[in-house]
Amino acid sequence: MTDTAPGPGRPVALVTGASSGIGRSFALALADRGHDLVLVARDVARLEALAKEVADAYGATAEVLPADLTEPGELARVADRLCRGRPEVTLLVNNAGFGTYGRFADLPVDAEEREIRLNVVALVRLTHAALTRMVPAGRGGIINVGSIAGRQPTPGNATYGATKAFVSSFTQAVREELRGSGVRCMVLEPGFTRTEFQDRAGIDPGTVPGFLWQEPEQVVQAALRAFDRGRAVCVPGPLNAATAALASVAPGAVTRRVAAALLRRRPAGEPGA
Ligand SMILES: NC(=O)c1ccc[n+]([C@@H]2O[C@H](COP(=O)([O-])OP(=O)(O)OC[C@H]3O[C@@H](n4cnc5c(N)ncnc54)[C@H](OP(=O)(O)O)[C@@H]3O)[C@@H](O)[C@H]2O)c1
Repeated sequence: MTDTAPGPGRPVALVTGASSGIGRSFALALADRGHDLVLVARDVARLEALAKEVADAYGATAEVLPADLTEPGELARVADRLCRGRPEVTLLVNNAGFGTYGRFADLPVDAEEREIRLNVVALVRLTHAALTRMVPAGRGGIINVGSIAGRQPTPGNATYGATKAFVSSFTQAVREELRGSGVRCMVLEPGFTRTEFQDRAGIDPGTVPGFLWQEPEQVVQAALRAFDRGRAVCVPGPLNAATAALASVAPGAVTRRVAAALLRRRPAGEPGA
């Protein structure tokens, strides 16, 4: 579905998961920087409202491309937009993602598989689609959204942490392969960020101390600054940076246990939560 086709001459960014949270903040910040947008998520009404908001506030035009990225046919449509659509996308933000919480053995495995399809498979396919055009053109950029949860095994959300470890490893490897190509690639690894993420996962955000939280706008401003500087990895905020650095050097036996203790939360609404 197209609201208005992006006009010629302005750079175009495609943002997945643009209907809320970090993705919505990326869309607003990029429009403010002079980008036109392609907005991807499932909630058409929210994407259309955002398209109007960026037009009114920043004079940006936005194409609304609704898609459930866990569905192969819908994912292929978004990949096709990156490979062949006009005007060409010069910045891809692979942001759509979700988490599941609980003991892996107790969780419905279909949701675990959907999580892998969104957080990993869609990100890989869209990165590849974008590169088929960016590499020959010798320009472009990709920001993949991981998490500091990817820095160590995360008992209590085992699949989520593993998907984000994949995002980090994959993005940094591709970045090295792209050296000298004119195409930049960065992984963004936020910590706790006030979005709909915890609600969607059925987690009571009140179980996380206030000082650990960042607003999505802070995360996105840090990400865009880091991307401008050509960084490979952006961990927004000094507290998250210290946590991530510690997780990277501490022995696995320690990080596994600390993560298990920190992530031992009760779903929202459960007695005693
Ligand atoms: N919030 C945190 O604490 C935190 C920390 C570290 C990393 N992250 C990462 O940040 C990214 C953005 O999350 P957020 O915190 O902004 O959460 P959010 O507010 O829940 O936003 C998630 C976005 O993903 C979209 N989405 C979900 N399932 C989708 C699907 N099947 N197909 C297409 N789009 C889908 C949602 O839109 P629709 O529902 O309209 O499809 C929404 O726009 C995720 O990758 C998450 O893992 C978040």
